[in-house]
Parts: sequence; structure tokens; C-alpha cells
Amino acid sequence: MASELVVAVAGATGAVGREMLKTLEMRNFPATKVIPLASSRSVGKTVPYKGQELPVSELKEDSFQGVHLALFSAGGGTSKTFAPHAAKAGCIVVDNSSAWRMDPEVPLVVPEVNPDHLDNHKGIIANPNCSTIQMVVALKPIHDAARIKRVVVSTYQAVSGTGQKAIDELDGQVRAMYNNRDIPVNVYAHRIAFNCLPHIDRFLDDGYTFEEEKMMLETKKIMGDDSIRVTATTVRVPVFYGHSEAVNIETERKLTAAEARDILSKAPGIVVMDDPSNNEYPMALTAAGQDPVFVGRIREDRSLENGLDIWVVADNIRKGAALNAVQIAEILLQKKLLG
Ligand code: A2P
Repeated sequence: MASELVVAVAGATGAVGREMLKTLEMRNFPATKVIPLASSRSVGKTVPYKGQELPVSELKEDSFQGVHLALFSAGGGTSKTFAPHAAKAGCIVVDNSSAWRMDPEVPLVVPEVNPDHLDNHKGIIANPNCSTIQMVVALKPIHDAARIKRVVVSTYQAVSGTGQKAIDELDGQVRAMYNNRDIPVNVYAHRIAFNCLPHIDRFLDDGYTFEEEKMMLETKKIMGDDSIRVTATTVRVPVFYGHSEAVNIETERKLTAAEARDILSKAPGIVVMDDPSNNEYPMALTAAGQDPVFVGRIREDRSLENGLDIWVVADNIRKGAALNAVQIAEILLQKKLLG
């Protein structure tokens, strides 16, 4: 590794950006300098890193001179505008937005699933959608063992996936309700407190949402198999941290629940929690603040010849965003593609 490794975090004041800084610190990422970037609104603010308060600079086209790695989580439009400038300056971008994910020139990577896709990067690497990341970590070992034909997934997604303003909105709505005040509704189309919204991201012409389409298309790209059919229903629930997913899987070869449990418990990045007799199964509360993808409720689907039902939970800000991005950077270092 070169002696210098300068890392920028674009969107450093946001929910994911702050977690990126925390993750770099917690995993002892060998950055020699960390530069937090955000909009002009945040100039004058600081963000914590390794016991210090780092001043936030404005993200600009020329922010990336001398920067080796940039972790972006500042929205799709910002990534579309600034990631090419970063790449042109010789910086490797790991982008958490949906802006580049389906670009055939851009690897879309989950380290437990397709680290080899990093080998041909051209300066921009995409971090997948949060719900997709945790699902493919669980699907990959099952696909390797029994070939997946079709997946039907329903999600229960935390508000932190929308960003800090949504965390504040759920908190504000609950407080307003208990204090008999008017309930502010700004972030989502409807109240999220004590409600479930079958609406994440915008609606498409055929009735799916863009979030559902992301899960359907990104899964094929990450798994490197266009033949896997996926349908998704994505739902926002009043949970702060941790996405949960009910995943139904149809395979070519039969896997018993015991076989699936064994395969999943040996797979990288997964913790199996599956003891219904003791009320043991993963929950959002289990995953919040944790790194692994938790899998439970593993059972054979009574309605299919070769079918499994599983329940997959992970911290959407960690494995679903910041941790996955930092793991990508760690693999770039291992492969000597960075620094
Ligand atoms: P800022 O705090 O200055 O608005 P979240 O997903 O939690 O809402 O966070 C979004 C992050 O993206 C924040 O750090 C935000 O900075 C940053 N951001 C949003 N728009 C821009 C922009 N046009 N240029 C730079 N950073 C941006």
C-alpha cells in the first residue's frame, strides 16, 4: 500500500455518511486523512471521527484532487454530477445512491457475493440498494447449492433508509401524537407513525415502485444470473433502524429446511437465529447496530415442490449501506486496486 490513503466521504452529515465515518473508524481502515464533504449548508459544521471533530467542506467538482477513495451517500443527483469528476481525478468512488447501479460499466458489489466484479472497475463502483444487499447475502449460498428459479420478497423497511429527515419525522410524529399536537407529515405521502406504507420511492407505469424494481434488477446483476425471476413488494414501517424481509425462494433442486439452515449458518456474513420453540428469530431490534445479516424462520414452503421461506433482517445503515461500502474498499486494498 502507498504511504498515503486519503478518503473523502460525500454526504458526511447524513445518516449514512455519519455511519461511514464510524465504520471507517471502527474497522481501523488505514486512511491517512479523512475529508468530510456535504452541501454548502453544512460548511461550518463538524462531524466526529476518531475522537476529533472534522470540519465539513463543500462538495465541489475539484474536491477530489489528491483523494484516493470517495464514499458517496449524498443522493442520486449529487452522485450523477460529482462522481465522474472524482473518477477523472483518479479517485475511486464507491457510490451508495441508485445513480450508477444498473450502468453496465459499473460493478454492483456485495463482498460476500461477487467480489470478483471489482476487478474491472473504471473508477465508479456502486453499492447496491439496502434491501437488495441483505437479501442477496442470504440467496447466494442457496443459489450455489440448489439453483434459485424464483424469489418472492416482501420487505418491512425502516425509516432511516430515507435519511435523517425521516428519522426525525417518525420521532416528531410520535411525540406530537402523545402531546395532542398536530402531526407533521412532510417526508412521506402519509403518516408513518403507527402505520405501514406500501410505497417506497416513486411509482412506475406498471404499478411497481422504483424500490421494488431496484430489488428485482439488482439481484440479477449481483448474482450474475439473469434467469432468476424476482418479484418484490416493499413497505415502509415505523421502525428506526433495521430492514426485515419475508423471502420465498423456489429452487431447481430440493433443499430441506435442515439443509438450508446448515448452508446458511456456514455462509459468510450470516448469523442464523432460528429456534422458534424459544421464540428466537431475528428482529429489527436484533440487527440494529450490528454488522451481520440475520436469518431465521427457515422452513419448507408447503405450497411448492422445491420451496423455502426465510426471514432476513439486517441494519440497513450498516450492512445495507456504510459497512458494505467500507468492505468494498477493504477488498480493493486486498486486491491492490487502491492506494
Ligand atoms: P447537507 O447536510 O449539507 O444537506 P440524508 O440521506 O441523511 O438526508 O443525508 C444526505 C447527505 O447528502 C447530507 O450529508 C447532505 O448534506 C448531502 N447532500 C445533499 N445534497 C447535496 C448536494 N447538492 N451537495 C453535497 N451534498 C449534498
